[in-house]
Amino acid sequence: MKTEVLPVDPLAPAAEPIRRAAEVLQRGGTVAFPTETVYGLGANAWDAAAVRRIFAAKGRPPDNPLIVHVAQRRGMEEVVRAVPPEAEELMRSFWPGPLTLVLPRHPAVPDVVTGGLETVGVRMPAHPVALALIEAAGVPVAAPSANRSGRPSPTEAGHVLEDLDGRIDLLLDAGPTGVGVESTVLDLTCRPPVLLRPGGVTLEELRSVLGEVAVGGSEGAAERPRSPGMKYTHYAPRAPMVVVEGAVSSSALARAVWALAEEEAGAGRRVGILATAETAPFYQQMASSWPPAGAPPPLVLVVGERSRPASVAAGLFATLRRFDASGVDFIVAEGVPEEGIGLAIMNRLRKAAGYRIRRISPPGGPG
Ligand code: TXA
Ligand code: MG
Repeated sequence: MKTEVLPVDPLAPAAEPIRRAAEVLQRGGTVAFPTETVYGLGANAWDAAAVRRIFAAKGRPPDNPLIVHVAQRRGMEEVVRAVPPEAEELMRSFWPGPLTLVLPRHPAVPDVVTGGLETVGVRMPAHPVALALIEAAGVPVAAPSANRSGRPSPTEAGHVLEDLDGRIDLLLDAGPTGVGVESTVLDLTCRPPVLLRPGGVTLEELRSVLGEVAVGGSEGAAERPRSPGMKYTHYAPRAPMVVVEGAVSSSALARAVWALAEEEAGAGRRVGILATAETAPFYQQMASSWPPAGAPPPLVLVVGERSRPASVAAGLFATLRRFDASGVDFIVAEGVPEEGIGLAIMNRLRKAAGYRIRRISPPGGPG
């Protein structure tokens, strides 16, 4: 299979590439397309054979359900059994946008989409290309992130090709996505609603609309899932990774990260540091007196600015992929505060690290 790549303007997609991609979906093919979060790999949600092609291309376990993407209110009504009042409020507040609602599924939705579950995840993405494509296809579009299973989600068309070139029919290249982490997944089939995956819409925003929201589920906000199955080893870079966490100053954080980097380099490993704009100057300074004899100094990659967590989210997956490509043997990553989008960032970082965490305390602070 040859993967066709069509460039498309992210703000004003031309009719021709959209028409071509919609045609591929209508005849049962697979199309990678941009959303405001990450690139998705889409197929006609009504076509079980087409949806199976997604699982095959990604190497995805069949019991991990897909999100159904819609462009209109009517589209969502076709895939769920009923729309509860909380869903109405959330859609008014956050759609189109990075919020996936888990609701009882309509019986017409194929089992392969929901992994056999009686519920379906549905969202309306806030990206002109995604909306135009779904609209033109005239069907709901089932789409997971467009990466090989276990790789970081793609935030650029190049990432999609790295993982899936020759395994999918078409890719709409609209440049980098905006949010950078995937949508928030919220289960509305229980009370209070349960946050299954933190994402682009924050827990604080959900609570401002719904009041109570529980945190948990298989992709539990930040903690290790209760029964970690093979299917939850997501977002893993190739090198082992540790996350350094703690409410300390940028300089104290950088010193703790550097100490770990020295330890690993002393053991003969080539180390990468996932850094931020605020800590980068400290690493530069410490590199001038890099001690481990013969060991190359760490590869420091700046993911974004700590003072602008949205910039860290936007750069996160691309930076993990750069570490993969660089051939480092070990990654030390800076944590960020778990507020706002920071909850989603820490969820992805901890998973990428296999829950290997080094906590540091402020001087005079507890333990
Ligand atoms: O931002 C996003 O959500 C991106 C873009 C492409 O829309 N999509 C995405 O899909 O991240 P995926 O398949 O990589 O992640 C979907 C997550 C999985 O953790 C899946 O288990 C969960 O949503 N999910 C989907 N349907 C569900 C359901 N019915 N019940 C519980 N969890 C569900
Ligand atoms: Mg995914």
